Amino acid sequence: MLELDASANPFSVYLNADTLHSLQEFRTKAPAEPSFFIVSQVQDLLFHLAYVEAAQARDQLDLDDLDGALWTMRRLKRVLNVLVATWEPLSGFSPQDFAEFRDALGEGSGFQSFMYRKLEFVLGLKRRSMADMHAKDPQVHQALREVLDAPGLYDAVLRLLHRSGLPVPDDVVHRDWAEEYRERDEVTEAWRQVYASPHQHRATFELAELLTDIAFDFGRWRTTHMLTVERLIGSKAGSGGSSGVDFLRRVADHRFFPELWAVRAGL
Ligand code: HEM
Repeated sequence: MLELDASANPFSVYLNADTLHSLQEFRTKAPAEPSFFIVSQVQDLLFHLAYVEAAQARDQLDLDDLDGALWTMRRLKRVLNVLVATWEPLSGFSPQDFAEFRDALGEGSGFQSFMYRKLEFVLGLKRRSMADMHAKDPQVHQALREVLDAPGLYDAVLRLLHRSGLPVPDDVVHRDWAEEYRERDEVTEAWRQVYASPHQHRATFELAELLTDIAFDFGRWRTTHMLTVERLIGSKAGSGGSSGVDFLRRVADHRFFPELWAVRAGL
C-alpha cells in the first residue's frame, strides 16, 4: 500500500486514497473485468450514500423538518441518477466480454450486497429473509436487523401526513416496522386530497413528487440492470442461484411508495 504524506497530499489522506486504491484486485486478465470490478465497487458505495441520505431524510421528517427533508431528498434523487448512469460502461459489454471473467465470480452475485438491502429496507421493502441470509456474518446481520426493525422513509412520511391531519389510519403509523409495507386505500385517499389541492398542500405535494422521483429512479436502476443482464447472459441462470433475467423482471415490477402510483388512476 502507498504511504501518503499528509502535508503533500492532504485531500488523499482525508479520502484514505491509499486504502481505496489498494482495493481493486482483479481476478483475471480479461480486458472487461476492471470495468465490472470498479463499477460494482462504485455502485456499492453509492448504495451506501443513498442509504445515508434516505435515513437522514427520515429523521428530519420525524423532527417535523420538512424543508430539510426535501433538500436531503433532492440529493438522494441525484445520487440515484448517478447510480443509473453507472450502468453505462457495463451495458455495452458483449456476451464474450462478460464470459471471460464470469467464472471468477463463483457463486458471487449483487444479490448478496448488504448495502443494497439496507437501502431497500430504508425505502420500505422490508424482508426478514434478506437480512437472515447474512446470518453467518453477525456484524452485517446485526446492522441489517437494525434497519429492518426501524421505521423507513415512507413510514416517516405517513406519520407526518397523519400529524398534519390527513386521513392516514392509526394502524399505519403504529405498525410493526419490520414487516413489508402494504398498500392501503385510505392512504391513497390521503394522497388524493393532496393532489386535488396542490396549492393548499404545496410542501406535501412537493414531497409526494420527490418520492415519486425516487421510486422512478430506483425503477430505472432495476430496469437497466435487467436489460444489461439480458444482453450479457440471455436466459442463463444467475450466479446467485436465481432464474436470472426472469427473476429480475419480477423485481423490476416492484414499486416503492405504492399509493403514490395508485393515486394517479383517480386524478
Ligand atoms: C454486469 C453483469 C451483471 C450480471 C450478469 C448480473 C446478474 C444478476 C442476476 C442474474 C441477478 C439475480 C440473482 C442471481 O441469481 O444472481 C442479480 C441480482 C442483483 N445484482 Fe446483478 N448482475 C450484474 C451486475 C451487477 C452490478 C454491477 C451490481 C451492483 C453492485 C449488481 C447488483 C445486483 C443486485 C443488488 C441484485 C439483487 C437484486 C434484487 O434482489 O432485487 N449487479 N444480478
